[in-house]
Order: sequence, then structure tokens, then C-alpha cells
Amino acid sequence: MFNKKTIKDIEVTGKKVLVRVDFNVPIKDGIVSDDTRIRAALPTIRYLIDHNAAVILCSHLGRPKGGSEAKFSLKPVAEYLATLVEFPIHFAEDCIGDAATQAAGALQKGEVLVLENTRFHVEEEKNDPEMAQKLAALADVYVNDAFGSAHRAHASTEGVTHFLPSVAGFLMEKEIQYLGQAIDDPKQPFVAILGGAKIGDKIGVIKNLLTKAETILIGGGMANTFFAAQGYPLGSSLVDNDSIEVARELLQSAGARLRLPVDVVIAQKIEPGAETRSMDMGPIPDGWSILDIGPATVEGYAKVIATAGTIVWNGPMGVFEVPEFAQGTLGIAKAVAGSNAVSVIGGGESVAAIQQSGLADKITHISTGGGASLEMLEGLELPGVAALQDK
Ligand code: 3PG
Repeated sequence: MFNKKTIKDIEVTGKKVLVRVDFNVPIKDGIVSDDTRIRAALPTIRYLIDHNAAVILCSHLGRPKGGSEAKFSLKPVAEYLATLVEFPIHFAEDCIGDAATQAAGALQKGEVLVLENTRFHVEEEKNDPEMAQKLAALADVYVNDAFGSAHRAHASTEGVTHFLPSVAGFLMEKEIQYLGQAIDDPKQPFVAILGGAKIGDKIGVIKNLLTKAETILIGGGMANTFFAAQGYPLGSSLVDNDSIEVARELLQSAGARLRLPVDVVIAQKIEPGAETRSMDMGPIPDGWSILDIGPATVEGYAKVIATAGTIVWNGPMGVFEVPEFAQGTLGIAKAVAGSNAVSVIGGGESVAAIQQSGLADKITHISTGGGASLEMLEGLELPGVAALQDK
């Protein structure tokens, strides 16, 4: 299934290995607040250290404007990594140039060097060959373990592969195997659950999944655009006006396979303590917005989920951060966790929901990728993976 070489297929002992990880993690007041992506990279890092390699880690963090910005420094991440492992972790103040070259040159086998944020150079996102070559010059071999960034063709994900033997890490392999199998060879019935605010980002995903899934369950703000296509007045609900026409076409071509909420939770304010109402889907009163799916929808969706052979879920069913509008998402999380299907969850908020529900260990695979997992669901090739050596 996964047809790319991994670190097991090449000699890494005694080598300097440049590993692209996705350490784009949330940081609050200088402290890592969710370490999932860091822990997910540990199997690859440990394997390389166990095989006596010198490991150079690079990653982006956030979306800096193209220069150094203290709040996007990877230093807190390097410090955090040092608390998880027993081998030395060094840090270089830049990912290329003298600081990186000297630190990489001094790095010993069995040690790790974390380079500063690759996006502190505008050349990173431009996939500039010179920057890629400078990164490559630090090492003998390149490993891409950054599934979450594999949909980006940047200097540290794609460009660098033109200058070094390039293979996949274990996280990359695992992600592509689970997501690939769910999409290309699903145990039927294949049920997809799609939510999130905007339909615009997910039209390609819906189109591709309609060729593969038996049922697509829709929730979140994106359901509103389908309701608008059906002609409902929606009060103050968020609607993606540019996508109403395509939503109408999708409804027509999908028929009953595309399921919309039958009831919704509405409110006038999106804040904790807001007055809420639950109503069957119909005209939404002026000044009110749809903010979650209702209990009858959760029940109906749960029945479909219970019969599934494969479930792929991306995007929350409502404004999940506010407790008043979290019940739909949590209800779906429980249904997915309770099913016997192969279940794959991607996207920050649906992953947060399953973690909050305490049922994460009941899920077959929780993806570390948001945009990357969506592009896979859309059937697109990920440039960071395509560039690696074939098996
Ligand atoms: C993500 O968090 O989805 C990845 O790290 C990619 O980040 P980006 O959308 O800023 O490229």
C-alpha cells in the first residue's frame, strides 16, 4: 500500500539525518499546550538515535510573516522535547546559515539538534532551491515525517528532496496507510462525517467521497450553505454565499447519500451562557444563528455510524469550543467511538472533541494532519510524499 522507502529501507547508522517534523503545535505563554504532534514524531527520532544517527530536526511553527518572530520560535518545543527523551537535545537559532552549519557540524551520534522555524525565511514557502540546498548541506540523508505539512511543497518538505536521498518516517508511513486504506479500499459501508465552518474548503472532498462513500453525514457551519441552497431563511447563520450554487448541484447529484441535520440548536450569541433553542430544521428566526446539530440528528447519524464498516470524520458538528454548542460534536464522538468500524479522525477540532470525550483509545487512527488529511480525502497527491524515493 505505502510504496515509498522508509528509514528501515536505508542505512542510517553513523549518518547525519535531517528530519522534517511537524512541530506546528499550539504554544501558550511560551509553553507547549498540546504535545500530540511531538509525541507522534518520537518513534522515528528514537529509531534513528537507537541506530547511532545524529538527528537534525526542522519544522515550521505558525505563520510568521517571513522574518523572525519570538512568538513563533521553536525553542520552547526543543525544550519540551528534552523533557520527553533521555538523549541530548541542542537548539540552533537559525535553520540555515552559520548557526545551523556550526551546530550540525558539532552534532554527535546519538544526539538531536532542533533547528529554528523554517518559516523565518520567506524562501521556505516559495520552495526556493537555494534554501533547500542549504538545508540539505547539513545532512547525509533526508527523512520526511511531517504528515501534517505533506500537502505543502516547501523548501523543507519538497525542495530538499532534490538534494539528498529522501525517505519517509514512521508517522508519515502510518498516516498514509490508514487514510489511504480508508479512502481507497474501505470496509463497506463507508460513512464519511464532514463538519467545520466552511463548505468552500470541502467541496473537492465531498465530490471525491461521493464516488466512494455510501453516506456522507453533514454538520457544522457547512450544513448552512446546503440549507441556503434548499431555500431556508437562515437568520444570522453563517452562510458561504459563493458556494450556494455548488451546494445545490451536490444535493442534486448525491440524493439521499448526502444527509443534512433534521434539527438544530440556535442562539443569538456565540458565547458561554447564551440562551439556546433546539428546533426542527425550518426557517430560522431573524437574529438567531444555527450553532450545532440537534439531538434528533445525533440519534439519526448515530444509527448510520453504528452500521458502518469504515468511518472517516473531519470537522466539528457545531461551535464546539462553547459548551452550549458542543453536544452535537460530543454525541458524534461517542457514536464513532462506540462503533466496530475502522475509524479515522482528522482535523484539529474533531480530534480535540474525541480527546475531550475520553474515548480516543477507541479510534483506529487519529491523524496529526488537518489540511493534509483533507487533501488526501480529496484524492490529491501530497507533494511532500510524492517527492520521496519509491520502494
Ligand atoms: C497544519 O497545522 O495543518 C500544518 O502544520 C500546516 O500548517 P500551515 O497550514 O500553516 O501550512
